[in-house]
Amino acid sequence: MAKNDVKKTNGATAMVSEVSNFALVEAFKAIRTNLSFALPVNKKCKKLLITSSLPSEGKTTVSSNTAITIAQTDAKVLLIDADLRKPKVHTRFGIENSVGLSNVLSGMAKYRDAIRPSGKGNLAVMTAGVIPPNPAELLSSDSMRNLLIELEKDYDYVIVDSAPINLVADALELSAMVDGVALVVKANSSTHPATRDTLSRLEFVGANVIGIILNDVVSKGNGYYKKKAYKYGRSGGKYGYSSYGYGYGYGYGYGHTHRPQENNNENN
Ligand SMILES: Nc1ncnc2c1ncn2[C@@H]1O[C@H](COP(=O)(O)OP(=O)(O)O)[C@@H](O)[C@H]1O
Ligand SMILES: [Mg+2]
Repeated sequence: MAKNDVKKTNGATAMVSEVSNFALVEAFKAIRTNLSFALPVNKKCKKLLITSSLPSEGKTTVSSNTAITIAQTDAKVLLIDADLRKPKVHTRFGIENSVGLSNVLSGMAKYRDAIRPSGKGNLAVMTAGVIPPNPAELLSSDSMRNLLIELEKDYDYVIVDSAPINLVADALELSAMVDGVALVVKANSSTHPATRDTLSRLEFVGANVIGIILNDVVSKGNGYYKKKAYKYGRSGGKYGYSSYGYGYGYGYGYGHTHRPQENNNENN
């Protein structure tokens, strides 16, 4: 998928669907496979937090597409929008956000009333809800812990979208409540220092960082996918996502071949 195709429609085409291009769909299937190895196999419900250092690196895009792709296997999946400052999941799925996570955590709604079908198979969505004045407090509360315990009974996977780690503490609070954390790094944008900083923060709170997802990759052009991308004639070899380095479960991976560049041109 060429970057311009995505921008033209304000991100709508960045969602995996039956008409998505081959490389995009395959990249998310690879992420799904890697996750199935990296998350604890013996747990009935696997809880994954997707985060990144800064805004606009692709957290919402990656968490939404990962959730859609896992739900295609018939697993029961819930995507939670835990970015209570700049929630975007509801706009991606075109669903209403009047009642969501913040309302549940503040005791104003029952969690089942805050879950809606996504329109994508077995995937359900809990949107962020009304933007609260105290997101970090809500997300670190016992209510959040208890909510996850309740949800474990109903779902095979709970995927949590979040706020950027280097700006606010919200996702750090959550990282210790889930089984694994995947860090999104944006090619030609995320910096080494920011990524290192994020990883040390996550380590400090004892998060289980299971991998890095490199977003917005430009294919170097010698692989199977490049060939297919040309065949479908969409992107001239560009496609959006790649599991990072050797994929999940092999540590952090930054610092070897696929380095994020040092410049940072999209820290909005
Ligand atoms: N691989 C990509 N190619 C093109 N546009 C992308 C890609 N990943 C994300 N975007 C776009 O960048 C913007 C920010 O992405 P988003 O997932 O909302 O980031 P975050 O949740 O980290 O703030 C959105 O408009 C999204 O559609
Ligand atoms: Mg987001």
